[in-house]
Amino acid sequence: MRHQLECIGCHALYPSTITEWSCSNCGDLLEIIYDSNDLRESVDVSAWKSRPPSVWKYEQLLPIDRASKKITLGEGGTTLHKTSRLAESLGIRKLYVKNEGENPTGSFKDRGMTVGVSRAVEIDSKRVICASTGNTSASLGAYAAKAGIECIVIIPEGKIALGKLVQAIAHGARVIQIEGYFDDALKAVLSLARSNRELYLLNSVNPYRIEGQKTLAYELWDQLEGNIPETVIVPVGNAGNISAIWKGFQDLRELDLIQRQPRMIGIQAMGASPITETFKAGRSEIIPVNHPETIATAIKIGSPASWKKALRAVKDSDGIMEAVTDEEILDAQRLLARLEGIFVEPASASSVAGLKKLRDVGLVGADEVVTCIVTGHGLKDPEIALRMFEKPTNMNVTQLGRLLS
Ligand code: F0G
Repeated sequence: MRHQLECIGCHALYPSTITEWSCSNCGDLLEIIYDSNDLRESVDVSAWKSRPPSVWKYEQLLPIDRASKKITLGEGGTTLHKTSRLAESLGIRKLYVKNEGENPTGSFKDRGMTVGVSRAVEIDSKRVICASTGNTSASLGAYAAKAGIECIVIIPEGKIALGKLVQAIAHGARVIQIEGYFDDALKAVLSLARSNRELYLLNSVNPYRIEGQKTLAYELWDQLEGNIPETVIVPVGNAGNISAIWKGFQDLRELDLIQRQPRMIGIQAMGASPITETFKAGRSEIIPVNHPETIATAIKIGSPASWKKALRAVKDSDGIMEAVTDEEILDAQRLLARLEGIFVEPASASSVAGLKKLRDVGLVGADEVVTCIVTGHGLKDPEIALRMFEKPTNMNVTQLGRLLS
């Protein structure tokens, strides 16, 4: 759809021909905006019914030209599980879990990458780049391979889960490890992409990626047959995803498809929770965490790029930011795997850990209709599960016979 870019800080407008992600006036991030009339006129909701679940089902609400090539691996359409055992264990009447681990490369990043890489191809970019805690690099590697363009990923050495590293390598990305944290890698990548226009940046500061990720909100509306949950709980790292999902709900409101917005709750890991700290202290700026620490490597981020967008989503929706400990995260990972058969990586489980914590203190009620977003597949990070869960037992056939008799 026809679109422009708008600065979230000073509201300066930019044409869709630019490739920047931040405002040249004030430095804040840009977001994609559509004309309200265009939006209403070009969206035919009744046509959605006949299309299979997918990010591209909502093509009318995406900023890629109809005639442009779409780089797709079949993303979106992930299951919304209505939980029973988990709901009971947490004391919630209606609890849904949206499993984004079902996406082609095993995380929600694919929703953004299908749009982001389609955009790269649309503007004839031949090289894409990102910094990553793992999943972004795995996803970009796959979509760049599909598009036949060069992919460079910068990761913090020794700090990303094995499964994700293997994915990026398998897809032929050029993987460069740097000393330091994700925040250092992102800083390097932003500066490289700023000075070299041939590198198209595909971190979540890229507003086209956010457009792909917002489709999760549309899918919830579709899967709940025109309803939305009262509360949506999202793991937060660099803070792109919670901002994207909130943007999707705002589109639904703009289209008069919903009359109220859900409460957005963002969950960070305790050792990497600058947005939560800002929220709780009622401050308007974040204080970066210099040495973020958590077992949930995907969200081990001390200086989240989209913190302003995330805070806006939480505040505008009457939501909450909370932080959970590694122990709470591992507990939630185990609960999901053992009560619902859903195996997720630690960062993903933070939404469920957050729900448990907020339920315990009464900040989420038993009658609230809640959806937890789980963001990445458990097989991404097998080492954690091997280390933290029970080990297999060794025995011979006689011992086995005795055990089972
Ligand atoms: N969950 C998982 C599994 C992730 O990989 C990430 C982010 C998040 C949650 C947080 O999402 O950054 O939009 O707030 N991973 C990025 C990466 C940073 O490089 O793969 P966010």
